[in-house]
Amino acid sequence: MHDAATHASGNPSSMHWAGRSARRVLDDARDKIARYLNVESGCLVFTSGGTEANNMAIFGCLSAAKKGKVVVSAIEHPSVLQTITYWCERLGHELCLVRPQKNGQMDADTFCAQLDERTVMACMMWANNESGVIQPVQHVVEVCKKSSIPVLVDAVQALGKTSVDVSALSADFISFSAHKIGGPKGVGVLAVRRGSQLETWALGGGQERGRRSGTENVPGVAGFAAALGVLHYADTQVVRDGFEKKILASMPDVTIHGSDVERVANTSMFTVPGMDGETLLMQLDLAGFAVASGSACSSGKREPSHVLQAMGVNDRAARSSLRVSFGVEHTASDAEALVDELVRIRSLLKHMAGL
Ligand SMILES: Cc1ncc(COP(=O)(O)O)c(C=O)c1O
Repeated sequence: MHDAATHASGNPSSMHWAGRSARRVLDDARDKIARYLNVESGCLVFTSGGTEANNMAIFGCLSAAKKGKVVVSAIEHPSVLQTITYWCERLGHELCLVRPQKNGQMDADTFCAQLDERTVMACMMWANNESGVIQPVQHVVEVCKKSSIPVLVDAVQALGKTSVDVSALSADFISFSAHKIGGPKGVGVLAVRRGSQLETWALGGGQERGRRSGTENVPGVAGFAAALGVLHYADTQVVRDGFEKKILASMPDVTIHGSDVERVANTSMFTVPGMDGETLLMQLDLAGFAVASGSACSSGKREPSHVLQAMGVNDRAARSSLRVSFGVEHTASDAEALVDELVRIRSLLKHMAGL
């Protein structure tokens, strides 16, 4: 990224030498990302992140479609759920949300049963960002293809954590984000299958083959390509599994969500009964641990996670939940220290509450 920012600081659309050197960096990075994803480089549209890639696919697909039905899994990231809801309302499409099973995995047949001749788009994420549970995207894409239904697969959490082959999946649109694999924030990419209909998202200078105008973020894209070379997320499984084993041994009433189905290696979401997740989060933060809770702040109110709700977890348990994502830098002793701290905080809080 440093090289791209200093030695290739021209505008990649400019004809002069400085522009040409920026264009070379951009093209090289595009080729590297395309090779990694096993897709033609011309299918990639760079964006400002996963959110924009999802918005681009949803707007680009729905605005070109005749009025119909959109089938979406209920556990999508807000950048899919909110965008779909907005455009369905604006364009008059019917929205059909499909809930997963209790273990957080969508039943492919239940999802596909909602597809009919009126369906103009389907969306299913590859791996869930809260539970880490891997979804049956391959099966759903195959069924959709038979009926020529365009599909968006949000692969932001799958990249680097499970094997991702864009050509083999063959979805119309697949979104990715660099910062989920240790790359820079503010860079993403949408892989658009050759022949898929996509209305232009941003008009202007005609960059990205006219699909998304705006001068490309050359250092960011270079950083995205560089990050692909240093992925070792599979190694985090040992640390995550050790963490879960220890937490269950220390606090047997803890529930780990999605533990009986395939998950990405680094994620753990669990409920600590009787505890407020936000309080645990803040106490852990004071001790130097950065974790997330099972609730999100929306319009000043703390709402339980829509993912846990869709999995049938009651609001109280959802509010008592935490999410931990292990990075490649974490060790088994980090995981043990986290469990020890959780046990300490829990007994302290119980003591203070006079329980
Ligand atoms: C599944 C999923 N999709 C989309 C996004 C949005 O990506 P970005 O932060 O690059 O906009 C995220 C980010 O957390 C995510 O987890």
